[in-house]
Amino acid sequence: MCGIVGIISQNRFSVKDSLQRLKKLEYRGYDSFGYCYDGHLKKQVGEVVIPQNGDLTNKIICHTRWATHGGVTDKNAHPHLSCDKKIAIVHNGIIENYQELRSTLEKTGHIFTSETDSEVIAHYFEEKLKSMDIRSAIVEFFKDIHGEFAIVMTIQGDNNLYAIKRDSPLVLGIGNDTYYLASDIYAFSDATNNCIFFENDEFAIVSDSDYQFYDKKGNKITKTIQQLGWTQHTEDKQDYDHFMIKEIMEEPTVIERLIFSLKNEQKENLNKFLEIIRSSKKITFVAAGSSYHASLFGVYLFHKVGVNAQTLIASEFDNYVGLDDQSVVIAISQSGETMDVIEALKYAKNKGARILSIVNVPYSTIQRMSEVSLNIYAGQEVCVAATKTFINQVVLLMYIAHLLGLDVDVESLSNHIENLFKTKDKIIQIAEEIYKVDDLYILGRGIGYPIAREIALKIKEICYIHAEGMMGGELKHGTIALIEEGTVVISIMPKSNPAIYSNTKEVEARGAKIIRITNDISTTGEINVMHIKVEDETIFCILSTIVGQLLTYYVALKRGNPIDKPRNLAKSVTVK
Ligand code: AGP
Ligand code: GLU
Repeated sequence: MCGIVGIISQNRFSVKDSLQRLKKLEYRGYDSFGYCYDGHLKKQVGEVVIPQNGDLTNKIICHTRWATHGGVTDKNAHPHLSCDKKIAIVHNGIIENYQELRSTLEKTGHIFTSETDSEVIAHYFEEKLKSMDIRSAIVEFFKDIHGEFAIVMTIQGDNNLYAIKRDSPLVLGIGNDTYYLASDIYAFSDATNNCIFFENDEFAIVSDSDYQFYDKKGNKITKTIQQLGWTQHTEDKQDYDHFMIKEIMEEPTVIERLIFSLKNEQKENLNKFLEIIRSSKKITFVAAGSSYHASLFGVYLFHKVGVNAQTLIASEFDNYVGLDDQSVVIAISQSGETMDVIEALKYAKNKGARILSIVNVPYSTIQRMSEVSLNIYAGQEVCVAATKTFINQVVLLMYIAHLLGLDVDVESLSNHIENLFKTKDKIIQIAEEIYKVDDLYILGRGIGYPIAREIALKIKEICYIHAEGMMGGELKHGTIALIEEGTVVISIMPKSNPAIYSNTKEVEARGAKIIRITNDISTTGEINVMHIKVEDETIFCILSTIVGQLLTYYVALKRGNPIDKPRNLAKSVTVK
């Protein structure tokens, strides 16, 4: 993951402003951060700290890390330097053959100071520059390095920034007198809407007044400047304590915005999307994490309207799926940058499949790889845990299923959510009862199953409680052995699905403490029952997710957890 930023300008700009730009990429990782300008190097464990001095510079590189190789320490933070300290690099990705390269470089006398794979890049260039110019050295780099990288490099004594890309995201922002190299457009979209996305195996040499792109053989290439029709509006917490609760409370608004867009600016793309789905023999979704749960929800809905669909976890995609030029693959991704999904799409493209996508971040790699892409219009989501973006993913899938024949009142959803928010106190009460547990189970059947999985993921991520989202019918095949007196089981119980009632009784008979989420009116008023007043099963399941999101939030609060930036995670997962 990691966020990288490099800025170069004819005019001096403030270091503080550069770090504020880096801060916007913190969702990509927040184990440590570092930066380097005019011979100053700062590296530190933890979230980005904005310097309060008034230092100015005309060239800087910055990094926020999500560690892959080497512990979370000051030394392993980027930038990394060559032995003579003249070369400084920041890197996003993984250098797969770093051990081999490192031992070769060590034999020629290079001394390494970190445990990372990335440090090898600085020493590699130091060695190569002894016998060749930088352009040739980068061409050699493309041949010698295995793995993924977005790199920004400075060399003391010259006036350029060097930017190199394979697989990991990298974009050049073109301002009036300033160039920005960054992992994504958030870093500069307040300053310019002109940019150029790097494609694989390209590099650029950027000075304070010009830039030139090259292919991996060192040939000059001409790239077109893309104008972003959208500039990032940075979210703040407003009066909320955390982004997570703010983003949950935004759900009714973002749903309405999405539905409006589908009837207006996204209408044409929606029609193309529908046409491709209708004419295909089988739809294969691909996604990771919460987006995978949304895709599973989509599979259930598509089956209801007679569309043959399956979904596969992105990281295992090529191990399971047979594709050809008749196949249609729909990627679902909030960030549009998840490496596992990108790799799966490359595989699918090679097999000749058509690629569609559902993303939140506009201009993201996955959107750019797709023949048709729909946006979920959820706006920036800052909390690492997906809440409003998951909801809008499922709402979009429900809307598509509705147009394909599913009988559901999509437009009523926002009102139902507003009503659900009025019962928040009940959820807080349940949170108070269960916040001390070490394990819990969430049961669902049919479209309740992906929701059970999604709630379990939220609880793991934010509460740090072991949670399993299970198919109600599968429990008796083994997991029920773990149920004992007092084990907490949350059951998603739409009254239209009576089998879940039996599954719930089976665990209750073994002493489990049941939290029922149901639309069965006969349960109103019971303790540990969240009653949702809606008949429709699809809408009920979406509302159950929101109960799960709120429960997660209040349990995590009681446990004193950090909420928006849980340990070990990052919002955009751009490594394999
Ligand atoms: C969600 O709460 C998680 N942080 C995570 O599982 C996420 O959904 C996953 O990494 C996929 O990300 P994407 O939607 O950006 O592709
Ligand atoms: N592999 C590098 C490190 O661990 C970069 C990690 C990343 O891009 O997430 O420092």
